[in-house]
Amino acid sequence: MDNPVALIDGLLEDHANIVRDVEGLEQACSDATALTHLSQADKDFSPGRLNKAEGLKKLQDIVTKCQAGVAEHFTKEETALLEVFKKHGNEDQMLQFHTLLKQHHELKERFAEAKNRADQLASGEILTGNWNAAANDLLTYMNKTRKLIEEHASTEHFLFRALRNDLS
Ligand SMILES: [Fe+2]
Ligand SMILES: [Fe+2]
Repeated sequence: MDNPVALIDGLLEDHANIVRDVEGLEQACSDATALTHLSQADKDFSPGRLNKAEGLKKLQDIVTKCQAGVAEHFTKEETALLEVFKKHGNEDQMLQFHTLLKQHHELKERFAEAKNRADQLASGEILTGNWNAAANDLLTYMNKTRKLIEEHASTEHFLFRALRNDLS
């Protein structure tokens, strides 16, 4: 990496965007809980049900966007930023960074699971009686995921800022 300070600044900027996108995802989940069950027949034949299909499509799109954004950001931390830490970080900073990198796996899995659940809600295959519970479960799941992402980003913020200060 030619410019480690610019790399760190870019990653810190990503954090604000990621948190904002995940908040949008949580809102889309919340909106989805207001939609009622959507059967395949509804999607295919009933124009009045179009809003539900649209709401669920939006949810799927936002999940996909968040999943891709988080994956790309994590990859930069795991490759280019890791090199910066190896080169410039002290032992304690390295240790903290490794602990953070280990959290990426769980966070990525949470987005994959959210994507599965959003796809299932949109599939029309969930039984009417289970639909609202499934939508509510996804909302709770995203609420927890947002908190985990925020914690992860805020811990990184302090560590990355400290390394950045040592570099400039
Ligand atoms: Fe990270
Ligand atoms: Fe990060």
